[in-house]
Amino acid sequence: MKHTHYIRQSYPFRWYRTHAYDFEKYFAGRNVLEVGPNKGFLFEKYYPITQRYTLLEPNRHFEKDYVRLQKRHPNLHYEINGFEAFRDDGSFDTIVMMAVIAHIRMDPESLCGKIDSLLNKGGFLIIETNNTKRNRRMLDLCDRHLERIEAKTSYNGIMKWLKIDYREVFVYRKN
Ligand SMILES: C[S@@+](CC[C@H](N)C(=O)[O-])C[C@H]1O[C@@H](n2cnc3c(N)ncnc32)[C@H](O)[C@@H]1O
Repeated sequence: MKHTHYIRQSYPFRWYRTHAYDFEKYFAGRNVLEVGPNKGFLFEKYYPITQRYTLLEPNRHFEKDYVRLQKRHPNLHYEINGFEAFRDDGSFDTIVMMAVIAHIRMDPESLCGKIDSLLNKGGFLIIETNNTKRNRRMLDLCDRHLERIEAKTSYNGIMKWLKIDYREVFVYRKN
């Protein structure tokens, strides 16, 4: 899977995803947490319209990219940490988890509970994942505790034809 990290963060994929998803409404004016952002480029287009954007990533290798991004986006913050150990007093209007839940060492119930504790009422969870048993369990829990408001395939058209990977993106609202 290593190569897909980089392809997914490359300019054409970022462009495709930000245009195909039309997720601007979940970012505009909001306090956003993105978990496992890798190089941090995926939603760069939206950084300027957020109130504050926090990248949470355990791999220090990407810190240099975040420092570079911060020069362009003063409202960008980052923490080098895993989601398991992340503590934050504040809460978020939007939490973004793209292709990351499989990497987090928490059972689906605890993962779901932690997301809930970090998300404001009326806030959004944007979650992209593939179809493993554990991931499906996680999505079942999301369906039970949150309202599913959007479901999209990650790639369509030529992107799907390239067969980079098969994933779906869901948007949930906390009511
Ligand atoms: C498959 S990549 C997805 C990257 C990016 N979200 C995307 O969609 O292109 C998984 C990312 O999650 C990060 N990660 C791994 N374990 C994590 C954890 N426990 N908490 C948060 N992020 C984690 C990895 O370092 C990597 O950047």
